[in-house]
Amino acid sequence: MADDDFGLNKAPQGAHGETETAGHVPVLLKEAIDFLAIRRGGTYIDATLGSGGHSLEIARRLGPRGHLIGFDKDPQALEAARKRLSQLAETESGRPLITLLQGSYAELGERIPAASADGLLADLGMSSLQLGDPARGFSFQAEGPLDMRMDPHGERTADQVVNHMREEDLANVIYEFGEERRSRRIARAIVRARPVRTTAHLAQVVSAALRPMNRERIHPATRIFQAIRIFVNRELDDLKALLAAAPGVLRPGGRMVIISFHSLEDRMVKDATRMGAKSGIYELLVKKPAVAIEEEMERNPRSRSAKLRAVKKT
Ligand SMILES: C[S@@+](CC[C@H](N)C(=O)[O-])C[C@H]1O[C@@H](n2cnc3c(N)ncnc32)[C@H](O)[C@@H]1O
Repeated sequence: MADDDFGLNKAPQGAHGETETAGHVPVLLKEAIDFLAIRRGGTYIDATLGSGGHSLEIARRLGPRGHLIGFDKDPQALEAARKRLSQLAETESGRPLITLLQGSYAELGERIPAASADGLLADLGMSSLQLGDPARGFSFQAEGPLDMRMDPHGERTADQVVNHMREEDLANVIYEFGEERRSRRIARAIVRARPVRTTAHLAQVVSAALRPMNRERIHPATRIFQAIRIFVNRELDDLKALLAAAPGVLRPGGRMVIISFHSLEDRMVKDATRMGAKSGIYELLVKKPAVAIEEEMERNPRSRSAKLRAVKKT
């Protein structure tokens, strides 16, 4: 395991307590913490640090003998999480060891020793930090470059997909990862509009292609941006690798909690956990996924599509 603590295991500087407003509001926070059933002194992995909202609550419960290991592909997320976690007062309940790793949770099996973790949390998708920064190119509501990489060194960009992919392959990406029936029509419109230079331009092209037939409540570009983002970041491949590695890194009795935001992810999590339960690796802690209560949905619209599944390693 790489061993970068990003300065976190030194004494905290400045104000104690969570005074800073972090950019991302954690979804299903109480439910995630409850299902993890955190053991003081245990080792917990946050596979998707984001701004560290879930991690902070895990770290608070670990005590000085505990260890929190966080992953994120995005160096900006690691920095935000480092800041948020540095507010953890040493006196609060004793600061655990904290290790922050830049990289994909697909590498879990290689970077984490076997049977060493008491719990694993993955809160999938992108954070508000990423969505809210037009320069990252995730949002169709702002003018930005066609990037969409969570890892800035990732080899694929949205620009390569939008401007250089064959029309048929582009249609397949839109169909498979956006679950969009009108994929061929949209791919044709994008190819005709090339070069498409910005996120706002792409959203405009998609809207125009669907205008005569669009009766949906969501913006027509929603699914197309989701599809391209999933493809650019190889999100489903990474999730598959995470699900395959998880039983190996969890100790017997260790728990895994996964929060997903669209049906493609949830289906993979459901299938992997049910198969694990059938073969005796897991005990299912929920039969149906947990969802946000009305109050959270109102407070945090991002939670509306969240589904949480939890298992215990037998
Ligand atoms: C929904 S956010 C997590 C928010 C976090 N739970 C919080 O409370 O602030 C998802 C994060 O996962 C990261 N991510 C997505 N895919 C990843 C992968 N394959 N490996 C590591 N991090 C990933 C994204 O960069 C993003 O920062």
